[in-house]
Amino acid sequence: MKIHHIGYLVKRIEKAAQAFAALGYVQEGGMTCDEGRKAHILFLQKDGYRIELISPFAPDSVVAGLLKTYKNAPYHICYEAADFARDLEALEQGGYVRMDEPAVAPAIGGRKVTFLMHPAMGMVELLEP
Ligand code: NI
Repeated sequence: MKIHHIGYLVKRIEKAAQAFAALGYVQEGGMTCDEGRKAHILFLQKDGYRIELISPFAPDSVVAGLLKTYKNAPYHICYEAADFARDLEALEQGGYVRMDEPAVAPAIGGRKVTFLMHPAMGMVELLEP
């Protein structure tokens, strides 16, 4: 698995994007409105690192509760699978617990992702190749 991005929760995505831009981050594509997750998503790049800004636009968004807990903060690392089914099984055998069913991510070209939680290291996202 390779690191694809670091997911970063933000309350106000436009202001966050401006603040990241001031540090030299460059936008990758435009803003995506993810209707399923009820969140706006914007990818940024700097020095070979890719950051995913994610901001809920409705109180019942899947990330609204996380934003209350974490405030503006990174909260997951996304790994791009070499083989989605095999890597998912290996993670589950390694103590990761799946939080959802694999679902399409409109902000990543419609590729499927799933989130898992590990008791010692928190949340990861697995992205299909
Ligand atoms: Ni992500």
